[in-house]
Amino acid sequence: MKRLYSIVSLLTVFLSVVLFGSCRNQATEDAQMRAFVDKLMAQMTLEEKLGQLNLPVGGDIVTGEARSSHSAEAIRQGKVGGLFNLKGAAAIRDVQRIAVEQSRLGIPLLFGMDVIHGYETVFPLPLALSCSWDLQAIERSAQIAAREATADGICWTFSPMVDICHDGRWGRISEGSGEDPYLGSRIAEAMVKGYQGASLSDKETMMACVKHFALYGAVEAGREYNNVYPDDYHAFNEYMQPYKAAVDAGAGSVMAAFNTVHGVPSMGNKWLLTDLLREQWGFDGFVVSDYTSVRHMAENGVNFSLEDGAIQCLEAGLDMDMVSEGFVALANAVREGRCSRQAVDDACRRILEAKYKLGLFDDPYLYCDPTRREAVILCDEHRAEARRIAGECMVLLKNENELLPLQRKGTIALIGPLADARNNMAGTWSVAAVPGRYKTVKEGLEDALRGTGARLLYAKGSNLMYDARMEAIATIFGHEMRDSRSDAAMRQEALSIARKADIIIAAMGEASEMSGECASRVNLEMPDAQHDLLVELSNLGKPIVLVHFAGRPTVLNWETEHLPVILESWFSGSETGDAIADVLFGEVNPSGKLTVQLPRHVGQYPFSYRQMRTSRPNEGGEFAKYSTCYADVSSKPLYPFGYGLSYTHFAYSDFYLTDSVMPLDGSVEVHVTITNTGSRAGAEVVQLYIGDRQARGVRPYRELRGFERIELAAGESREVVFTLNAERMGYYEPADLKWTLEAGDIEVMVGANSRDTQMRLLHVL
Ligand code: NOJ
Repeated sequence: MKRLYSIVSLLTVFLSVVLFGSCRNQATEDAQMRAFVDKLMAQMTLEEKLGQLNLPVGGDIVTGEARSSHSAEAIRQGKVGGLFNLKGAAAIRDVQRIAVEQSRLGIPLLFGMDVIHGYETVFPLPLALSCSWDLQAIERSAQIAAREATADGICWTFSPMVDICHDGRWGRISEGSGEDPYLGSRIAEAMVKGYQGASLSDKETMMACVKHFALYGAVEAGREYNNVYPDDYHAFNEYMQPYKAAVDAGAGSVMAAFNTVHGVPSMGNKWLLTDLLREQWGFDGFVVSDYTSVRHMAENGVNFSLEDGAIQCLEAGLDMDMVSEGFVALANAVREGRCSRQAVDDACRRILEAKYKLGLFDDPYLYCDPTRREAVILCDEHRAEARRIAGECMVLLKNENELLPLQRKGTIALIGPLADARNNMAGTWSVAAVPGRYKTVKEGLEDALRGTGARLLYAKGSNLMYDARMEAIATIFGHEMRDSRSDAAMRQEALSIARKADIIIAAMGEASEMSGECASRVNLEMPDAQHDLLVELSNLGKPIVLVHFAGRPTVLNWETEHLPVILESWFSGSETGDAIADVLFGEVNPSGKLTVQLPRHVGQYPFSYRQMRTSRPNEGGEFAKYSTCYADVSSKPLYPFGYGLSYTHFAYSDFYLTDSVMPLDGSVEVHVTITNTGSRAGAEVVQLYIGDRQARGVRPYRELRGFERIELAAGESREVVFTLNAERMGYYEPADLKWTLEAGDIEVMVGANSRDTQMRLLHVL
C-alpha cells in the first residue's frame, strides 16, 4: 500500500512538473507573441490596422492573374487581412507574395475556405458524418481535410458548423450535426481537434472557425435567413452548448451568424460577442462576420449606413469583416472620434495573433509547399479513410426479411436519377471537390460486381421532378441532370429493365443542391416524378432496395409502407459509389444512427426528440382530446432519434446503477451489457438518456447524456459503463442560467435509440 502511495505521489509530482512546465511554456510563448504583435502594431498606420480587418473573397483570382486582379492593389496598400475561397497553392503563393514583398510592412495574409466536409477527398455531409457517432472518425475526417487544404495553401476553414436544428425545412441542417446539443458538442470538439491538431503552426493543420454564432439553426419556420426567437433558457439548453464546446476545445475563430439574437444582429451584438463569448467563455481568438453581413446592419434597419453598421459591429466585438468592406473604410470615423480606436487595435491584435499562431510570420509560404499536393491531396490513404467513414454514416432504416446484404448474383436493375449523377455525389458545400474523379453509384456497383457473373442493368427512369423550373433550382450550381426525353419514355425504359431483374435498386431522393444554404423547402417528400416511378416499380412486385439521397430529414411514409428496404445514404462524399456498394453487398455492416428524427409530416416542425414536458402530456402520440397532439397525424416521429439497423442484432442486458441514490456531489455508474446475437460482426451505438423529473426549469422527457460506439464480433458481449454526476446531468437553470443539478428523481435510460430504452430510477439528494 505504502509502495502504491509513493508511486502515486511520484506520479503526481511528475504530472505537476509537466503540467506546470507546459503552462509556463505557454505563458512564455504568449508573452513572446504579444511582444511581437506590440512591436508590429507600433509601426502600423490606422489604415493598415483597418486593412487587417478586411476579408474580401478571392474567387476572382486565378493563377497567373494574381498580380493584376482587383484585390492585388488593395493588398499592396495593406488594405487586406486575408482572402477566402481561392483554390490552389500556386495562386495563393502568388497572392501571398504581393502581401509579403510589395506591401509596406509585409504582413502575410490569411487564406480561408469553406472546407466543410473534406477538401478534394470529400467526406459525407456533416449531418451524415454525425450519424456515425464515431468521434475518432469525425476527428480523422477533419484532420484529413486539414492535411489536404493546407497542401493547397489554405490555413483557415469556416468549419465546424455547430448550429443545432430542429427543423428539416431548413436546408442548412445538412451542414450541422443534427438536433442534439450533447452529441453536437462532442462532435464540435472532435472537429476542432481534427482541424487544429496539437499545434496551429504545424503545416498540416489549419485554424477552425466555429459558426454560426449564434442560434442560426433556429430560424423561424425553417426559412433561410429568417429571424430566431429562442428565449435564453432554451437558447442555452438547446443551442449554445456546441459553440461553447468548440471554444473550450480551442477553436481559433468564430463566425457571427446572420440572424439576430435578442433583436440585435449577431455581428453587431455586444452581449453575444463580448459579454458572453469573451468575458464569460474566455474566448481569445477572433470573430469574423458572415458574408456581407456588416452591410446587413443597414439593410435590416438597425443602422442608417454601412459606416454606422460597421462601427456598431466593431465596437460589439466583431474583428473581421467578410466582403462588406465596411471596416476598411472607418479611418475618418476613428479620427473624428465616432469609432473607438481601442476597438480597432483590439481587433487588429487578434488577427495578427491568429497569423502568428499559424506560423505565418515565420514562414508566410508555410502552407504553399508545392511538393505536398501530389503526395497528399486525394491520395489513396485519404480515399480509403473516406470510403470507410462513409460506410459508417449510412443509416439502414428498414430491412424486411433481411433482404440486405445482397448476394452478387442474378440480374440487378439500378434505377433512378441519382444512380449515375457524378456531379451530385460529393454533396452540397464541397467547394474544392473534383467530381470528375469520383465514381457514381452505377460505377461503384459495376466494380463490386465485376467478375461475379451478376448482371447490372441501368436506367435513369425519371428526372428529379416534373417541373423543369424546380429542377433548375435543385441543380443551381451547374449540376444539371435534366434529361430531354419525355417522362413516359424514361419510365418505360426503367420498367422494361426492371421486368428483367431479380431485384431493383432505386437510387433516388434529393439532388445535392436541394439542401445547403438557401435551400429551405416545405415539401420534404420524395419529389413527384421519382415517387410516381417508385409506385410503378413497386407494382411489378419485385423486391426494391431504396438507396435514398438526402441532405436533411425527409418524409418517407409511402416508402416505409411499400418498400422492403430503405438505406439512408445522405450524401456520402467522393467515395459514395464504392461506399454504397460496400454496404449493399455486406462488405460493411451498417451502423449509422439518426441524429435527427424523421417526421411523418412536415407540419410537425419544429420537432425534436428532446420533447419538453408539458402540462398536458400525451405519451403515445395519438389523438386524445386536451392532450398535446394532432388530430390528423401522430405526434411521434416515423423514425426516432438514434435509430438505425444493422445486419446483425444486439441484445441489452444486465442494466443497473451502482446505486439508486446519489448525493448532489457524488456519482453513480451505469452498467449495461451488449451482446451481438447475430452471426456477423457489427458496431452498435449504445445510448444513455436521462429524464429529469423534478427541476426548476421544465426538462425534456429524455435527453442524451452519453454514448459509446462499440464493435462486437458475432456472439461477443461487452459491458459498457457510464459515469453520472452533477456535471454530466446538469442543465442551465432558468433563474441565472448556471449549469446546475437539483435534487429529485431522474430517469436513467439506455438503449439502441431514443425510443427503445430500459429505465432505472435515480434519486438525487
Ligand atoms: C455564407 C455562409 O453562411 C457561411 O457559412 C460561409 O462560411 C460564408 N458564406 C463564406 O462562404
